[in-house]
Amino acid sequence: MPQLELDPQKVYHMPKSICIEKIDNQYLIISPDTANWILAENENQLEVYKELSSGKCVIDVIQNQPQEKINDVIHILTELEAKKFENEYINYPQEHGMYVYLTNRCNQRCAHCYMYAGEEKEQELSTLEIKNLLFEFATCGGKVVTFTGGEATLRADFSEIVYSAKKNGLTVGVLSNGILWSQEFVEKNKEYIDEVQISIDGYDQQSYRAVRGTDSFDITLDAVERLLNAGIRVTIAITPLMGTLIGNESKYISFANKLIEKYKDKEFFVKFNTELLDGRTIKPTDEENMQYKKSIKDIKTACMSNSDEEGFALDHRNNTVFNNCGYGGITVASNGDVFFCNLVSQCVKQANIRQNSFAEINELSKRARELSNINNLMPCNSCSLKYLCGGGCRVKYFKTLVSTQVSVSKSSKIVRTISCTKEYKENVLRLMVKANQYFYL
Ligand SMILES: C[S@@+](CC[C@H](N)C(=O)[O-])C[C@H]1O[C@@H](n2cnc3c(N)ncnc32)[C@H](O)[C@@H]1O
Ligand code: SF4
Ligand code: SF4
Repeated sequence: MPQLELDPQKVYHMPKSICIEKIDNQYLIISPDTANWILAENENQLEVYKELSSGKCVIDVIQNQPQEKINDVIHILTELEAKKFENEYINYPQEHGMYVYLTNRCNQRCAHCYMYAGEEKEQELSTLEIKNLLFEFATCGGKVVTFTGGEATLRADFSEIVYSAKKNGLTVGVLSNGILWSQEFVEKNKEYIDEVQISIDGYDQQSYRAVRGTDSFDITLDAVERLLNAGIRVTIAITPLMGTLIGNESKYISFANKLIEKYKDKEFFVKFNTELLDGRTIKPTDEENMQYKKSIKDIKTACMSNSDEEGFALDHRNNTVFNNCGYGGITVASNGDVFFCNLVSQCVKQANIRQNSFAEINELSKRARELSNINNLMPCNSCSLKYLCGGGCRVKYFKTLVSTQVSVSKSSKIVRTISCTKEYKENVLRLMVKANQYFYL
């Protein structure tokens, strides 16, 4: 813990609204409106907090405590200062991203593919249409574009598209299966791409083949190396099938850890997908996904990669408020259809870039954000964790929202279609307890 220097006469002005949640014999003192919290590890610390909230100055509270409990006062004071608990300002995460599915064409036929990618769709967007889209997006304040598919790199005009995105000042990300990134292809595009996510769903050739159907395991690993050497940030995305995951957790752990160690001096990250969606040959049940999630959690805990709690702490630094899951951000399918989530197969089409102007689409997107804002969702709007949890995936838990055309929706409150559970809420509270340590680093 850091050295604490405080004015003994200081009187704390705590946030107006406070909720106290007990979890595993500890107390989270939460300021719901500023997405901030402090941790009282025992009842005496909670009492100290209450005394400090009552208008007493620091020295009076200290003098009120027996000598053997002075550490409880120091703990609470340290928490209050490290978390800047009194501050009432709030920050919002950046919301200026767009997803573009460049094509439905693919050089793989993955067993799990939720896009059922393979063949080109009818009337996929032309180079000019995509360039115009990027220009309009940037003109309206867009900052980040992610190209995906199908396999985006299969487009003959891929280089022209990433060049255009960069020229418009956008941060450029690409989701790819990694097969086409020869040295020549990397060299040609490296100036215009900030980050590439490469999917490697197995820990060796055989387990990779089980998901992706081809023997490209080594090819994708070579692509990772080439991209990193070219100065591009790389994340590998790992989405095992149930059958390749259960019982093979230790193999995934050692695969991920070897790569993390190998590329520790580069901008390299490993991301394990925590849930399987319905796809080409899979339709996971809720129970299967729960088992999947548990296995992935064990893997993540054992990996050297950033833990969930470290990510949670980073996400909520400086009173960052999560009032949405990202719903409302613009996603454009390969035929120009517009959706407000990248899980396009599970949301209603909202517009098409050939029929609607970008200004219209942008307005609809803003409206979708308002509708899906946590303050419009019941019962999340009255939950003490609302800005910390964000309310979860709108596609999964608010089905009426994602099946509603924004242009005709009324402004009434939207009710969760699947209730939040006590276990879920407790898990968020435990995450907050574990994340606490990262505020002192
Ligand atoms: C649809 S792919 C498109 C980009 C590229 N072709 C690739 O494979 O990375 C984007 C990501 O979605 C993941 N994905 C595909 N089907 C999925 C499913 N049913 N559930 C969860 N993730 C899935 C892939 O593994 C990949 O990491
Ligand atoms: S997951 Fe990616 S590589 Fe696999 S079939 Fe789908 S789009 Fe193609
Ligand atoms: S999902 Fe549950 S924990 Fe999260 S805001 Fe909604 S009610 Fe609260």
